[in-house]
Formats: sequence, C-alpha cells, structure tokens
Amino acid sequence: MSKVCTIIAVALSCLVVVALAVPPLNFNNDVTMYFGNHLGQVQDNGNTMALNLDQQTGSGFNTKNEYIFGRFDMQLKLMKGFSAGTVTTFYLTSPIGQAHDEVDFEFLGNATFQPFTVHTNVFSEGKGNREQQFHLWFDPTAEFHTYTILWNSQRIIWMVDNIPIRVFENQESIGVPFPKTKPQRIFCSLWEASAWATQGGNVKVDWSRAPFTAHYKNFVVDACVITNGASSCANNKNKQPWQTYTLDADAKAKLENVQKKNMIYNYCTDTKRFAQGLPPECKPAQEHPSA
Ligand SMILES: *[C@@H]1O[C@H](CO)[C@@H](O)[C@H](O)[C@H]1NC(C)=O
Repeated sequence: MSKVCTIIAVALSCLVVVALAVPPLNFNNDVTMYFGNHLGQVQDNGNTMALNLDQQTGSGFNTKNEYIFGRFDMQLKLMKGFSAGTVTTFYLTSPIGQAHDEVDFEFLGNATFQPFTVHTNVFSEGKGNREQQFHLWFDPTAEFHTYTILWNSQRIIWMVDNIPIRVFENQESIGVPFPKTKPQRIFCSLWEASAWATQGGNVKVDWSRAPFTAHYKNFVVDACVITNGASSCANNKNKQPWQTYTLDADAKAKLENVQKKNMIYNYCTDTKRFAQGLPPECKPAQEHPSA
C-alpha cells in the first residue's frame, strides 16, 4: 500500500471508531438525584458529578432510564485521607421490594493509609448473600479509575480498569435464578454506615473531616433501554461486543490473578457461614480450584 493509502486507511478506521464510541451520559439530563439533592454537584458541563456526605445527610443519583442487560462504565475517584464509616456506591437495582434484582459495587472507606475495601454482591429474585470483597492494587483516591458492570444474558462481570475481578455465571440450569427479566437502573450514592462499614464497625466516621466527596465522571452506558416493556435491543441485527462477551484466556488469567492476590472475602469459601452447605452456584468453583 502506498503512503497515501495507509494514511487514508488509518483516517477511515479512526472515523469508524469515533462513530461507534458511545458518548457518556450527561449528569444534567440523564440522571436524577434521589436523596441529599443539594449535595450533588454537576461539574464539567455535565460530565462529572461530585457527591457529598455531611453530618446531616449523604447524597445519591440514579439513571432516568431502566435497562435489561448492558455495559456500564463509570470513572470514580474516592475521597482522600480518613474515610472510615463512609460507603460510596455504583450499582444496578430493580425497585426494592419483593424479589428484586441487584448488582453491587461498593467502596468501604477506611482510616488514613488503610485500604478501601471493594465490596461486590448480586441479588436475584430477592436473594443476595453472595459477597466477594477485594483490596485494590492501586490507590483509588489518587486518580480516576474505571469500574464496569457488564451484564448480559449469560453472565455478570465486574471489572476494574478493564480487568475482570469477579464473574457471576448464569446457572439457571442448576436452579440458580439469574437477573434477566426485571428492568434495573444504575444508582450511585455516598452515605454513612459507621455501624458496619470499616473494620467491622470499629472505626467510625469522623465528622470533623466532613464533607466527604466522591467524584463520578465519564459515565458510559451501552445498554438495552426498556421503554413501556420493550427493549431498545429487540431489533438490533448486530450484537454489541458486551452482549456476547465471554472471558478469553487472557481475561481468565487476569481474573485468577486478582482473585488470588486481591480477594479478601469470598462467600463461596465461607463454610462457617454456610454450615448447611455452600450455595449451589459455588460448586463449579469448588471443582476447579484456581490455587
Ligand atoms: C481497612 O483496613 C484494614 C487494615 O488494613 C483492613 O483489614 C480492612 O479490610 C480495610 N477495609 C475496611 C473497610 O475495613
């Protein structure tokens, strides 16, 4: 190929990439505050949201749209210094009530120089108790990092900077309900949970350091929007990569590495808690121990 052709080819492929990229939601238009309204500050023309927590209240927002399946990417920068007793969240949920579905990313604060805990859980048909917790391999207060929930009909994957940290497979075939019929919204919040959040509730929030602030930005949602019961994906001929995403060998190796080095709690190995037997979805992991 001549130089000119190469340049044209590169320019064209750039155009294709630009055309496919989903723009971030706008925090002015696409989300609504659901508590502590005055403590949510939209910045950067709608590209950033700062949530605050003071002694009176925390704050939170949710997407206006509801989804069944999607890829949700949020960049998040957590508060510096002493953050014990605070909980910063990024999660999907259907309306709380009977048999709700939920997929959680929560960040439990800590004393100065102690690590945040990343807490994950998944509820299907109202049943949770599926916690896995991690310490991060970087300081989440220094810069923005990308936290992703990828949810398709086969699995739910939690990712940090595109590295999978957890997978919840669809195991309906062995009778484990999987979230797939209830529309969910993304919720993000910052609130106080001194009673349990940090070191088992032993280190409480220090109000002399309030307000606490978490920054959310570049919230990219590539998902099936549900409107009047109909999915925006229903007539899509071409599936998006997230819709068929499955872990390749490289992703599996990364997942195993994180689970070995960074996981601090796994409900699937908590035989004290589940003395009557581990939940059924834990069995495959038991059959193929990664260690
Ligand atoms: C806080 O730090 C302690 C000590 O390093 C650690 O065990 C714990 O997992 C950290 N996170 C929370 C939320 O307590």
